[in-house]
Amino acid sequence: MHITRHAEARAVLDDAAYVPPPVRQDGAKGTLAWLRAQVSRFSTGEIHAGRRRALVELLAGLEPAELRRAAAAMTEERDGDWRGVPTAVLASALGVEDTATVSATVSTTVSTTVSAAASGYLSGEESPQADAAVAQLLTLADVSVITLLLQGHAATEGLIENALRHAKPGDDPWALLEETLRQDPPLRATRRLDTRTGETVTIDLVAANRDPDVFADAERFDPARGPSPHLTFGSGIRPCPAPGHALALAAGVLDALLATSRPPRPR
Ligand code: HEM
Repeated sequence: MHITRHAEARAVLDDAAYVPPPVRQDGAKGTLAWLRAQVSRFSTGEIHAGRRRALVELLAGLEPAELRRAAAAMTEERDGDWRGVPTAVLASALGVEDTATVSATVSTTVSTTVSAAASGYLSGEESPQADAAVAQLLTLADVSVITLLLQGHAATEGLIENALRHAKPGDDPWALLEETLRQDPPLRATRRLDTRTGETVTIDLVAANRDPDVFADAERFDPARGPSPHLTFGSGIRPCPAPGHALALAAGVLDALLATSRPPRPR
């Protein structure tokens, strides 16, 4: 089933009978498949609730305003080369060193390693490269911290990339990001399994975020719209636990990138 209406999407996300499609539980310890079997994102019921609580506690120790300042400063230091900045800032805030030694001669950054594991983490596509990246991350952090880095990486970079396509001089980063989340989301769909029928349900976030019953002039990109009830951070039982952190990291990057095209602030 393919869901496109906002109300139906919310009803599915609210209903415990719909669960994330199960992932395999027999991966060898330390591999990508093993990691996916350990995390909140792909678990259900009490196990999900416990794993999620641990992540929420970790996130409560991070200050979004500080993430924003750090992301802006790092983007400026790197002369606007912002790729990897959100993950490097998040890693550092979570106590993970940015440079990891892979061997005596090769070193890499945490964000490169996270990037190598991140797409397989969500899709389930296994590869020797993804397994090596997971093994490397496990030398640096525990599963909860790795979960946060892997969950946040592609979505936050995708949000920045999409926002930059819509940015105009003088745009307020926060308003630009809010409307990008609604109208041009980095995460286009999420899936659930109906435990009663075995049917897989795809929730089309782009369509739900443009539902004419909920959003006036829904197709139009309008940063002046203000915060809206978009579903890009999910909803119901297991929404993204880090919308404020994600927005802060993305806004920090945009603060640095849009600063030069912004008119001077009135004193
Ligand atoms: C623009 C950036 C982001 C977007 C659009 C986003 C969106 C989402 C969505 C839709 C879900 C729920 C998936 C579902 O219900 O099927 C989710 C889950 C999650 N997100 Fe985010 N996310 C973003 C950034 C982040 C960041 C930066 C972090 C970490 C700091 C993070 C941590 C998580 C975690 C841990 C979960 C799993 C929650 C659970 O299992 O209950 N996300 N995210």
